Amino acid sequence: MTRTRCDRTPAWSQLQAHYQSAGQQLDLRQAFAQDPQRFDRFSQQAPHVFADLSKNRIDAATQALLLQLAQQCGVVEHRNAMFSGGAINTTEHRAVGHVLLRNPPLAPVEPAQTAINVVANNAWGDAQTQVHATLDAMLAYAQAVRADAAITDVVNIGIGGSDLGPQMAVLALQAFAIPGKRFHFVSNVDGHELAATLQGLKAESTLFLIASKTFTTIETMTNAHSAKAWFAAQGGTDTARHFAALTTNVAAANAFGITTTFGFWDWVGGRYSVWSAIGLPLAISIGADGFREFLAGAHDMDEHFRTAPLESNLPVRLGLLDVWYRNFHGFTSRSIAPYHSALKRLPAYLQQLEMESNGKRVDATGAPLPYATSPVLWGEPGTNGQHAYFQMLHQGIDVVPVEFVAVKKPRHSLPGHHALLLANVLAQAQALMVGQSDPDTGAEGHRRFTGNRPSTFLLLDDLAPTSLGALIALQEHRVFVSGSLWGINSFDQWGVELGKVLAKNVEARLATGDTAGLDASTAGLLARLRA
Ligand code: F6P
Repeated sequence: MTRTRCDRTPAWSQLQAHYQSAGQQLDLRQAFAQDPQRFDRFSQQAPHVFADLSKNRIDAATQALLLQLAQQCGVVEHRNAMFSGGAINTTEHRAVGHVLLRNPPLAPVEPAQTAINVVANNAWGDAQTQVHATLDAMLAYAQAVRADAAITDVVNIGIGGSDLGPQMAVLALQAFAIPGKRFHFVSNVDGHELAATLQGLKAESTLFLIASKTFTTIETMTNAHSAKAWFAAQGGTDTARHFAALTTNVAAANAFGITTTFGFWDWVGGRYSVWSAIGLPLAISIGADGFREFLAGAHDMDEHFRTAPLESNLPVRLGLLDVWYRNFHGFTSRSIAPYHSALKRLPAYLQQLEMESNGKRVDATGAPLPYATSPVLWGEPGTNGQHAYFQMLHQGIDVVPVEFVAVKKPRHSLPGHHALLLANVLAQAQALMVGQSDPDTGAEGHRRFTGNRPSTFLLLDDLAPTSLGALIALQEHRVFVSGSLWGINSFDQWGVELGKVLAKNVEARLATGDTAGLDASTAGLLARLRA
């Protein structure tokens, strides 16, 4: 498979010229005035997600050049390599298999089946069989926990991908949650978090899930040891019933004293692992059928990404837009605005997905990159964000593309609220684009909104397991596309290693007070902490 870095393609120079001559001046208001079809042209229905891209600073010429960029970079070949089990995580020499976790069980190959389906299935060998055996076991366990009225509290101990995915999804799907069970997520090594969670819990009614791909992460292991000690101190004895491990490192979990384990594989990246055993809290919360719907929604989006022509392939269009904004417009961040309170952890989840995947300064060969990569992702649910930082989005110097996520159907029956929520999300997207001249001066002034501020609008009919699965898979694939164009390996995370090593060193020095060889600031702070 050949990948060509974006800056080495003819389309890249053409995009630079296009940006100078037309792209940077594009005015959304004029674009809508000139093209009555603009909404239809730049919006589309993908599986379970409708997307309106029309309020973005793109036109037909930009889109055509961006699609050429995707072709010339080999995004299609790269995508196919992922789906067929190629070792595209080149620095760790691994395949990237989260899409396999969402594949339905293998059926006997029908003659009518498309060639690519056969390739995709065969290349993974018996991994697919293992995936389904593990999934079946995990879902049977989830059903048993659901039926066990004596377990009232489920505590997930994990961090990063072993926390953000299940936490985001359990919250998002709280309308589907089994009554009578509370879910807690402990990630931080800061003991305040675990101590506050344990307060009010009883050993006999608590299930601890120790979620760690590696089973070595210091935060998780520290919390797991403390939880185990608390359990024993409360008189708990039945570890097999009250502790389960979700990990690729079953041997380490056994050595820790946990015998109930659900495994996964090194070809599932931490931030892509909610579809694996790491999703167990979600499976307990929404049940086996709900979890299968979550997987099925993601699979629908996988099939769209794998088969739709590039021009109507939503992850491709979003990934291209991300590159257009980051590398041509120079926008440094993207604000995520979910207009649904149950999606309150979506921005944090997407932060890891985008920034741990694409926050890289070298290409896949290790050569420094001459252009910017991952934007900063940030956000809060609407309408809360409107009363905090939307001022800056409307009138700040920096242009920040906003990604709105709205849900058509509410899952509550309080009158009036949902219409008001939807009115707000539409109005914010509208205000960002249309702007307003200062009512006092008619031109510049404190009350002027320049407008022409871009946004994308993602709309779900309902926030349900299927649509959430599709929404998350969409985000995974758009990150794949931009990472592919940038020529980077989106599936490693070497950038978190240095801090881990230094923390071990500093921890030892905090105990002894040894500051020899430290920089003056670290030494000074360390001395104050010990005083
Ligand atoms: O922060 C680095 C990282 O490796 C993430 O990629 C991962 O999701 C997190 O730590 C937790 O890792 P583990 O699941 O192995 O405990």
